[in-house]
Amino acid sequence: MLFEPFNLAGVKIRNRLVRSATYEKRADVDGFVTDSLIELYKDLARGGVGLIITGNVLVHVSGRTAPNMLCIHTNHYIRGLRDLTDAIHALGAKVFIQLVHGGRQCSPALLGGQPPIAPSAVYDPSTKVTPREMTNEEIWEVIESFGKASRRAFEAGFDGIQLHGAHGYLINQFLSPHTNRRNDYWGGDEERRFHFVEEIYEAIRGEIGYSIPLIIKMNASDFVQNGLEPLESLKIAKRLQGLGIDAIEVSGGIYESGNKTAQLDILRPDQEAYFRKYSKLFKAELDIPIILVGGIRSKSVAEDILKSGEADLVALSRPLIREPDLPIKFRQGKERADCISCNGCLNFGKLDLVKCTQIG
Ligand SMILES: Cc1cc2nc3c(=O)[nH]c(=O)nc-3n(C[C@H](O)[C@H](O)[C@H](O)COP(=O)(O)O)c2cc1C
Repeated sequence: MLFEPFNLAGVKIRNRLVRSATYEKRADVDGFVTDSLIELYKDLARGGVGLIITGNVLVHVSGRTAPNMLCIHTNHYIRGLRDLTDAIHALGAKVFIQLVHGGRQCSPALLGGQPPIAPSAVYDPSTKVTPREMTNEEIWEVIESFGKASRRAFEAGFDGIQLHGAHGYLINQFLSPHTNRRNDYWGGDEERRFHFVEEIYEAIRGEIGYSIPLIIKMNASDFVQNGLEPLESLKIAKRLQGLGIDAIEVSGGIYESGNKTAQLDILRPDQEAYFRKYSKLFKAELDIPIILVGGIRSKSVAEDILKSGEADLVALSRPLIREPDLPIKFRQGKERADCISCNGCLNFGKLDLVKCTQIG
């Protein structure tokens, strides 16, 4: 099944393998597309993956998550992004853009020394920073920036949009009772915590309608006390389906929870696909396509997930940093990715580019 095509809300994907969003550290200092970034994406497209989701792309300057990340907060970015989508399309892959605002998890060093903004001023022990609570005006401004970014993404030729609603970034922060302590339109109960993502959804549909699919990556669990748990996440997923979201990628973990998102030392098949039980739960309760990410390393595990109906597509990040041509190798008979899940690639503060540190 891995190499059967899939139709995601009208986008024809050549197989079931997705490159999960992976920050590249290859944009220039202002966030523009570079030749090095295009080469990375050409390698991935040539390597046979069906759908590529870009690394997280910035919608508003107050939400920068990392240096040299791609940006889309003004129209100036459209031309370079068009070069990127053209290069990918010429090699037969489809590409979705991942839109992000980092909120509380942004380092002040990336914000000109200012504290990051967030739904509530909840101290983050992982970054040792207390964010500033957003004003109502700031919240609406960020929502509008997602809408405008979606129009630019459409003009740049992306096949779809993925909201980064996982890993403790701003959308996740509004959804989670741990980070959203507000008592207004934006927080206080499940329904109000949902308003931020709901307004973003409406802003994007208002800008581009249903011209390209709109999907979300979200946490099944935040893995922190008072954070999102699978059953509340499932309710959120049902609300998103009710709105009209086209697919959900199931992930987990925030900065504070440690290495839950990208778990270490996945060396045996029984350690793989560590969020599988959550995608199974979502698949059983929802009708929209579900993408599973997290620790998928073997062709047989990937096949088994698809055959047992526990996900519609499987997504990989770290293995494709090491072997961008892994899909072709799988097709030729290779059983296991070479990636040893050491997370050297995540140590990007010390690297010039995001790359596999095992192969230099
Ligand atoms: C270097 C690196 C950068 C990442 N950047 C992003 C990102 O921009 N957006 C995102 O949603 N997840 C990001 N992730 C998380 C991955 O998409 C994925 O959820 C996680 O690594 C687990 O999948 P894997 O076991 O296949 O690596 C990143 C992971 C790594 C290792």
